[in-house]
Formats: sequence, structure tokens, C-alpha cells
Amino acid sequence: EKGGFDWFMRKEIHEQPQAVADTLLGRFDADRRLTLDEVRISEAELRTIDKIVIVACGTAFYAGLVAKYAIEHWTRVPCEVEIASEFRYRDPIITGRTLVVTISQSGETADTLMAVRHAREQGAKVIAICNTNGSTIPRESDAVLYTHAGPEIGVASTKGFMTQVAACYLLGLYLAQVRGTKYGDEIATIMRELESMPAKIQKVLDAQQQVLDLAAELVDSKTVLFLGRHVGYPVALEGALKLKEIAYLHAEGFPAGELKHGPIALVEQDLPVFVIVPPQGRDQLHDKVVSNIQEVRARGARTIVLVEEGDHEVEPYADVLIRLPQASTLLQPLLATVPLQVFACELATLLGHDADQPRNLAKSVTVE
Ligand code: M6R
Repeated sequence: EKGGFDWFMRKEIHEQPQAVADTLLGRFDADRRLTLDEVRISEAELRTIDKIVIVACGTAFYAGLVAKYAIEHWTRVPCEVEIASEFRYRDPIITGRTLVVTISQSGETADTLMAVRHAREQGAKVIAICNTNGSTIPRESDAVLYTHAGPEIGVASTKGFMTQVAACYLLGLYLAQVRGTKYGDEIATIMRELESMPAKIQKVLDAQQQVLDLAAELVDSKTVLFLGRHVGYPVALEGALKLKEIAYLHAEGFPAGELKHGPIALVEQDLPVFVIVPPQGRDQLHDKVVSNIQEVRARGARTIVLVEEGDHEVEPYADVLIRLPQASTLLQPLLATVPLQVFACELATLLGHDADQPRNLAKSVTVE
């Protein structure tokens, strides 16, 4: 049942190229226009939307943070992302022109379900991004966009996250198309790049031995930091959450630009610091992140740098280089997340923990 893998989690990590491909499949009509059949909210209504609020928990919340960057960039509609358990208790500003997007692998998370109910009571339209057919959240929503990850058994979400990110890109592009933003014309190009991602994810998996060896080297770590900027920031948060969940290791993710405002005080000799570097040249943040790597290294950190192929600038400051295939900035999370998942799974294994059933956690949290 685990297909020769020791854990469902490891199997699910390896299923990611297929899961992402399946989530993207069949979204074009004959005229190469994006169609999201399940999104039963009229185009006229989607044109009146003046705010998008994404609501989710845990890893799905991080997928929502990635989505914010893409959705705002492509649609120019303001997009907020909120932790579901915080949402309805603060009297959020929701109107009939708000589009609420929930993200939930299980479709049964109580915090997210309560947010759906609250949003609909305020007159908002709700689209559920969900992996489980017929589950409660899509049933109670106005529309659903299914991810096609297949069943996810490991408590730590992996292919769930990757397909949520892919579905969010689809939703963002669809809204750009419907609303006719300038990115509406680039949809076919962006979709082509999206469709090339499964093969690139496979390339990252094919190179995982290096990450397995790294886990063995870092098995005695007490704390691990993850740094990123822009969409690399939610990837950093996700990398840290995976370590907490299954390796029971203290880990934090920070926006790299915040380092100097406090967290850099944590850096000491040999502290492992993972850094996700934005694509070179095409991205203004690249050089700033390279300086962040220098700053932590100067203070003794052991730097583990995730960087695209062909970027040689970081080499002098990296103790370990993890190479990623090239991708545009917005799509890089689909690649950069993968080594972090592999690292957490391997570390949990080496520490003798059950990677599929971590202590104190349940696969779906059906209480508020
Ligand atoms: O089923 P959901 O996507 O609604 O679950 C949300 C979170 O509980 C979930 O992502 C949790 O954070 C995972 N265990 C993360 O690996």
C-alpha cells in the first residue's frame, strides 16, 4: 500500500509531479481559454469582486500566502490571507463584493468550515479549494475547485500543499482572464510554464540523495531557521512547520528582510539556516537575499542554499547548495518546497519518529 516506501509521506512526496499535473489537467477549452467548470459563480459576479480573502489553516494557510502574491500580481484585486481560527472572531470586513477562498485538503477542518459559514452569512461568495470530493466545506460553499492529489494519508501535508498552490495559480489566472487584466493576455504563456512544472519537480526528486545526506549530517540540530522573501517566505514557513510536525524539532521561518529586526540575534556557530534564493537577474530581491546569506554566515551559521541552476553568485557563501531547475519567481515554490519536505521526512526517520502519525496531531481537525 505504501508502494515500496517506508512512509506514506515519502510516497506522497514522490507522487507530487503526477498530483500537480492532474490538478492542472483539462483546464483549457478548444480556444485555449481557461475554464474552471466547477467554479459556479458567474463571470459577471466575479467582475464585481473588490476584495479576495483567503482563509485556511496550517499548511493550507501557507499555500494561501503563496497565492496572495500570484493573485494580486495577476488580477490587481487586493487579497488578504487569514488563519481560519482567527477570521470570524475579529468581525472581518466582508461584503457581497468579497470573494472568500478557502483552502482545505480534507474539506473537514472545523475552523475553516466556521469561516465559510461566517463569510456566507455576511453575503460573500465562497470558493473552496479542496482535495476531498463531497466533503463538508465544498458542500457548504458556493463553488469548488478540486485539487487532484488523490488521498493524502500522511498527517504532514505534502502533495496536498503543492496541488493547493497549483489550484490557486489556476484561480488567479482565471480571475485575470475574466476581469481582463493585462495578464489576461499572458495566461497561455504562464499556463505553459505551469505545465512544465511536474517534470521539474521530478528533477528535484531525482536529486534528493544530497538532501538525505544533509539530514544525516544535521540529525543533532536543536533549531533550524528558514529564510525566504516574496513567495519564498511562505516556503520558509512551510519548511519550518514540516520539521516541527514530524521531527519535533524547533524551527522558524522568517522573511529574510526581517532578520535585522530581531531574529539575527538567534544566529550562532553552526546553526543550520536554509535560504531560498529568488531567481537571479529577473528578480530584484535576489541580491538582497544573497547579502542575507553573507550576514548569517559571517555570524557562524551553516548555510543551506536553495538556488536555481546557473546562479553562481551564492557559491562563496553556501555551505551546501541545493540546485533547483529554473522557474519564474511566482512558480518557484513548487520546486523549493520539495527538498524541505524530503529533509523533514528523512530527519524524522533518522530520529526514529513515525513520519505518518506524529504525536498529538490528527489528519483532519474537526474541532474548533
Ligand atoms: O485538511 P486541511 O487542509 O484543512 O488541514 C489544514 C491543516 O490542519 C493542515 O494543513 C496541517 O497544518 C498539516 N498537518 C500540515 O502538514
